[in-house]
This record gives sequence, structure tokens and C-alpha cells, in this order.
Amino acid sequence: MNDLNALPADFTWGVATAAYQIEGAVAEDGRAPSIWDTFSHTPGKIDNDDNGDVACDHYHRVPEDIGLMKQLGVDAYRFSLAWPRIVPDGNGQVNKAGLAFYDRLVDGLLEAGITPFATLYHWDLPQASQDRGGWPVRETAEHFAAYAGVVAERLGDRVKDWATLNEPLCSSWIGHLDGHMAPGVKDLTAAVRTSYHLHLGHGLAVQAIRAASSDASVGIVNNLSPILPASDSEADRAAAVRADGHTNRWWLDPIHGRGYPQDMLDVYGVELPVRPGDLETIAAPLDWLGLNYYFRQFVQDDPTGPAPYAKQVDVPEGRHTHMGWEVNSDGIEQLLTRLTEEYNPRKIYVTENGSAYPDVVRADGSVHDPERIQYLEEHLAACARAVAKGAPLAGYFAWSLMDNFEWAYGYAKRFGLIHVDYETQVRTVKSSGRRYAEIISEAAARNSKAA
Ligand code: FCB
Repeated sequence: MNDLNALPADFTWGVATAAYQIEGAVAEDGRAPSIWDTFSHTPGKIDNDDNGDVACDHYHRVPEDIGLMKQLGVDAYRFSLAWPRIVPDGNGQVNKAGLAFYDRLVDGLLEAGITPFATLYHWDLPQASQDRGGWPVRETAEHFAAYAGVVAERLGDRVKDWATLNEPLCSSWIGHLDGHMAPGVKDLTAAVRTSYHLHLGHGLAVQAIRAASSDASVGIVNNLSPILPASDSEADRAAAVRADGHTNRWWLDPIHGRGYPQDMLDVYGVELPVRPGDLETIAAPLDWLGLNYYFRQFVQDDPTGPAPYAKQVDVPEGRHTHMGWEVNSDGIEQLLTRLTEEYNPRKIYVTENGSAYPDVVRADGSVHDPERIQYLEEHLAACARAVAKGAPLAGYFAWSLMDNFEWAYGYAKRFGLIHVDYETQVRTVKSSGRRYAEIISEAAARNSKAA
């Protein structure tokens, strides 16, 4: 694709997954339950009452899955580590067998020439930590940092690229305010305290990782959305400002040393449990920012709804994925440009971007997914436009390597470049996976010609 010429020559082409969505083996080798085991085993919480007990059985199929990554030709693999495999009680005793699993994964990746990008927290809090109060209490942040230190000490000789948290917005607003994700709480105070302790845990983990591995490159992964008012009314425009605070500024300002946005503190009306030094810890300078982009949001004033009193409304026109999410690639360009202009990060990675479609395996064994190809091409082109305007974008991780457990939506929503048959665990590279491989090799060819 010529429209990708603006991407830098050393651009990192990757794929992403998360532990609970693919690993399975939930009771093996000393892993303890996480809040997602509890939540997914609570009837009615997940579509079709699916759970992650087996998922893609990745725990037993690491060599095969690394082989598939090689087939795609990716440079890097973003995965997450399951805290309850490594520190099953949330704090204290380290489970050697759990660490050994990630050791094997990392060694296998390096042997295949694939750079590991490790995320320390992709939502699977040990249930034992939840039982002691979970993210609304401060000790969870401290225990998270201790776990981060254990991992960095063990893997830091081989893993250089670390993300502390994946999408703290989801853990806070969806896990503790809407209640649609684990632990399924609906309480504004708990949600705001969760967001604060996640940030604190992030800052403390940055210190722990750097203490264990001086050449670590550390970042955080946020999911952001451009916000638009659903109408021109003053009320909707004010709602859009609140929704922007809720979705974007609340997650970006504190980690950049700007504190929490005052307008949102007023909207929530919840006192933050700040102790001296916390805001500096939270604002530890980072090596990179991770952007997960899926959709933009149109919002309406919603005075009787939950904070931030702004309701997301459907966009009837345009294309939508199987999630019902509007396809809008300009959104990723806008966010990359905004991050660059407003926060001046050293580097940005698109740590997730992708689309769900109801793929089927055809009689000849192939999976043809033209909509996903179009989505991929459009979003990559939009990334290149942002680079041309100055965004320090260093890489792109497609969500996802393979179909997996899509949280509250279970297995029905397929985001993979590789199809997974959950009955047989047979993996099939989709047309989009082949297209991604082609895009990656075309980029390599372009760069070797230019060199
Ligand atoms: C993101 C999550 C990821 C995946 C995608 C579709 O919010 O980080 O695990 O579920 O959405």
C-alpha cells in the first residue's frame, strides 16, 4: 500500500492478545481464580454463559501459536501475563510454575525473532485481592507493583517492552460503574477510587520495572475515543465535554503530571484518596503511550443517567462491525494527532485496533473476511496520515492474533486474523491474516529498496 509510505522504516508490526482471553488452563500449575473466572461463572453475566476455562487453549499450544505469528511475519507480540498464575494470592508467595510458563513463551518468541511486548494487567485481578477489597483499596496498587517487580526481575533480561495496565477505563467504568465487566460493581465511589488506585499501581509498577531492569521501555495502554455531540444543542455539547473528560482526559492528564481534570472531579463529586507524593508517582515519565482504538462516540445529555450524565447514542449511518461499533478510521488519525499535540509523548504505539465479524469456515476450509481487510487497510492508512502530520507512531498491533473470549460477549464475537474452531482448537489463517502478512512484507521490501 503506497499510502503507508509515511510509516517509519523501523515500524513495529505486531499482533495482540490477553491472558484470560486465550490461555485457558485456569486451574493448572498453581493458577488461582481471577475476578474474570468468578464473573464468567456467574450465570447471566456473559453471552451464552461462556467462560475462559479453555478459551483458545493457548497455554498448551504456545509453539503452534508462535509458528502462526511467524507465518504472519510479525515483528512483535503483545501479550498479557496472568497475575493469578504468578502471585496466586495477589500478594506474597510467587508461583514458580506460573512464571515458568511466561519464561517459555518469551524464549519461544525470541527464538522465532519476535519481540515480546508484555502487559502486566489485562483485567484479571486475583480473586483473593478482590476479596480483600480489590482496586477500590490502596493495598491492591502496592501489591500490583510488587507483582510487577517479580515479573520484571525474572523476564527483564529478555523483555524490554512493558505496559503496566491495559485500558484502566474499562476496569474502572465498566467493571465498577456500569457493572458489565468483572467484578460487576455499580458504584461511582468505588469506580473513581478504582481509577485512582490503578493509576497509583501504574506509577509504582513503573518504578518497580525500572528498578529490576534499567533498560526497560515502559508505557501504559489507554482506550480513547473522539467524542462528538449528537446534536448542536448546548446541552449535548456540554455532555460531549464531560464524556471527553470521562473517556480521555481522566486517563491522560494525571499520567502527564496535570493532575485530575477539575471539571470531572466536580462531575463525580468523589474525593480522591491522594497521599503526599502520589501524583508525582502517577506522573512518572514514560517511554511510550499505547493507544487502543475501536470507535468514536456520539453523546447526548443524560441528566438522570449515571456519571458523566452523557449517553452514547447509535450512529445509524455508515458501516458497523459485529459489535455494533461504527467503522471510522479518521478517529484513529484524530487521536494520534491529539496525543501528539496535547501530550507530546516520546513514542506512541497503537497497541490494539481491529474488528469483529461473524466469520465462517467455508467448505474448502478457508475463511474469507473482506470487511476486516478493508478495516485494517483503512486504519493503517489513517495511522500513516497521522505520522505524516508528525505523530511519533512507532508500531501497530492488530487485535487480535486469533479469535478469543471477547469478555461479556463470549466467543460469538470474532476479532482474530486467525480463526479458531472452539470444538477442535483448529486454527485457520483468515484472508485478513494473509493480507496483513503481505502488508508487512511489502513494507520490508519498500524499506530495503530505500536503504
Ligand atoms: C479492548 C480490550 C481487548 C479486546 C478488544 C476488542 O477493549 O482491551 O481485550 O477485548 O477490546
